[in-house]
Parts: sequence; structure tokens; C-alpha cells
Amino acid sequence: MPVQTDAPGIPLLGNATGLSCRECGNTSPLGPYYACEMCFGPLEVCYDFPRLTRADIEAGPNNIWRYAQLLPVPADIADRPTTQPGYTKLIRADGLAAELGMRRLWIKDDSGNPTHSFKDRVVAVALAAATEMGFKVLACPSTGNLANAVAAAAARAGIRSVVLVPANLEMQKILTTAVYGGTFVTVDGNYDDVNRLASELAGEHEDWAFVNVNVRPYYAEGSKTLGFEIAEQLGWRLPDQIVVPVASGAQLVKIDKGFTELAELGLVESTPWKVFGAQATGCSPVSEAFAQGWDVVRPVKPDTIAKSLAIGNPADGPYVLDVVRRTGGAVADVSDAEVVDSMGLLARTQGVFGETAGGVTVGVLRKLLASGQLDPDAETVIINSGDGLKTLDAVAPTVTVPAMIKPTIDAFQAAGFEAAPLS
Ligand SMILES: Cc1ncc(COP(=O)(O)O)c(C=O)c1O
Ligand SMILES: [Zn+2]
Repeated sequence: MPVQTDAPGIPLLGNATGLSCRECGNTSPLGPYYACEMCFGPLEVCYDFPRLTRADIEAGPNNIWRYAQLLPVPADIADRPTTQPGYTKLIRADGLAAELGMRRLWIKDDSGNPTHSFKDRVVAVALAAATEMGFKVLACPSTGNLANAVAAAAARAGIRSVVLVPANLEMQKILTTAVYGGTFVTVDGNYDDVNRLASELAGEHEDWAFVNVNVRPYYAEGSKTLGFEIAEQLGWRLPDQIVVPVASGAQLVKIDKGFTELAELGLVESTPWKVFGAQATGCSPVSEAFAQGWDVVRPVKPDTIAKSLAIGNPADGPYVLDVVRRTGGAVADVSDAEVVDSMGLLARTQGVFGETAGGVTVGVLRKLLASGQLDPDAETVIINSGDGLKTLDAVAPTVTVPAMIKPTIDAFQAAGFEAAPLS
């Protein structure tokens, strides 16, 4: 077991032991640090994991805290006021699989989280670590879903939130953030402008925890729980292939880290897996870098309906490239028209209404199957990371709102509804 101390300034974050630089490996103690003091590379949480069994995990709560031992959170986290995200459904997607000529397809449906996206996972971990490190305010720049998650988590914990978003966000995401209270700012600029402003504010306000800026190493670890849950819900097995939407790229990188840790801990057999990244063509810097064989990601100016994925300068872009190349996967992108079409396909074949990011993921699934880069016979998981109810404008022009009829059988029959097909 790791040696822990309650000396001032050293937080008690479970089995986490320190931070290490992803670029040069330099280590530093746990604390509110996110960039390496030697090379400015991003920092990553390190652990001394105890011996852990499947039964230990299965005995835990039905939320991400069942994996608390594998996260940088205090040991009593399950008893603290959090939104308790996670343990969302893994849906066997036979309808979509049949449509696409696949054999075994699953949807990890993270729209089932408390604020309807996977962001509740990362925010819950960031909040736990930030509170332990003495921060008094939970803050973020956001493309929308993170705004919901931060405002809700802060409300649950009874602390102040400060949330910054681009002003052109979907109205659904603006309203579903404002409802929780807290300080909410819409900014005249794109996400990358908002992110820059957040970094400047983080420098000015030392007691504000910007979840994806100054406590990013802890925040990002929350996405490992997607990997943990998928493996556990498959019966403690790893899938052959997984398709993940990419904005900053942290989710994809951490799902891969989650699989790696489970295999290293002996909780699953170490079978090979391939990781695939999905972007919208209107914001596809990582897909472009993959196609060109670059190691660096050239920033772009986003222009897509997939606003939750509209990060033109993705912090984890190079690490996404590392993961997909190491595992034999790929990154691809699809047009906005294909995003909308894929949202409809997912809804009609599975009864799952994903947001635009889900449409991006299903669209890329289709594209990579057509190009032969995804194996239709291999067991595949796709992530639906958010809820279609937050991006209604994307589908509004494509759905038919039925004509109104009088409340009589005659009117029903005259309108031809009895002969209407299934879909
Ligand atoms: C619904 C949804 N899916 C996926 C992502 C991408 O996550 P990441 O920035 O970790 O790549 C986001 C990011 O905001 C999101 O809101
Ligand atoms: Zn370094």
C-alpha cells in the first residue's frame, strides 16, 4: 500500500502517489500542477495500486466510485455529495449491427449520466481531487456538456461554479447549464478563445479549479471509468475494437489507459484491442494528422454542427495519434450531413437518441467499415457520449412532424395511419 500522509499540502487521493510528465517522465508530488516544470509537457497521475479483485469492484456502488481504488480520489468518496455518475448501460446493438453487416456490436450509452453526457465522470473526479487540494470554486471552459456537468456537480456539492462557453452554443445546453445557478458566462468567440480566457483566469484566481485546465491530470482520469465499465459489463473481457469521439482527445486516451490498467492488474485477460477516433470533418485536426502521417496536430478553426467536438487545438491530439497507431486503429471524419443521417440511423435501429457526437461516432463506424479498416466480424463497442435532446436543431429539419387530425377513428383512417410502415 502507498505511504500516505496528512502533512499540509499533500492531498489524500486514494492510491495516487504523484504526477509524472508524459513527455520526459519527470515526477512531482500530488498537487494542483498540470504542466511539467522541466519541459512543460502534460502531467499524468501515477499510482501504487493495491491487489484488487473483481469481487472487490463488484461489491462497490453502481457508479464510478466502484473503481475508486483506481482513481485519484479520497477513500471515502462514495459517501460525499457527488452526482454519482457512471455505470451507464452497455446496449447490445443487434439492430444497428444488422444494418451495417456486423456481428457483435455494443453501444456504451453515456447519455444515461446525471447531466446526460460522459462529462459527469471527469467532473466528479476533478471535483473530488480539487476539494481535497483546497480549491473553493469549480470552473471550466466548455463546448457545452462540460458546462452542464460542472454546474450540476458544484450545485450538489454546495460550492460555487464558474462556467464559460462560446455564445453560439445550442440553446438546450445553455438552458440546462443556467438552471443549476452559479456564475455562467457566454463568450463572443469559439471554444479555443474561451479556453485561452480560462487559462488567464486560472492564473488570476488561485482558488478556482478549472477542471480541464489546472486540475486536468485528475479530471482526465475520470474517463478511464468508461474503459473499466465496458470491460466489466462484457463479463470482464476487452472488446476487439472501440470507436470513440474525439474533441480534446482525453476520453479516447483514457479509455485505452483503463483497458491497459485492467490487464496489468490481472482483472481481464490481456487480449489485443484497436482504438478508433471519430471527428466531424468541420473540425478534424486529429483525423487530418492521422491521414497525413504527422506526429503533430495542426490547429484548425472549427465549423461543424458537432459543437461538443469543436476543439480546433486539441490538447491530447498527439496522444490520440500514439494510441491509435500503437493499437492498429485509425482516426476518421464525417461530414455534417453524415452526422445527422447517422443520428437518425442510431435512433431508428436502436432506440438510442444520441447527440451530434454520437452521430459522428456512428458515421465514422460506417465509414471505417466501408473502407475495410474496421472488421465487421470483430466484437466492437461504440461510445454514445451525449444526449440528442441537447442537439435538437441538428435533427429538426430531417424529422417529419405528423399532421394534426380530429380525435375520431374516421380521421385516423382517412389520414392513412393504419397502413404506415414500422419506420
Ligand atoms: C458529448 C461529447 N462527446 C465527446 C467529447 C470529446 O471528449 P474529449 O474532449 O475528451 O475528446 C465531448 C467533449 O466535450 C463531448 O461533449
Ligand atoms: Zn517533462
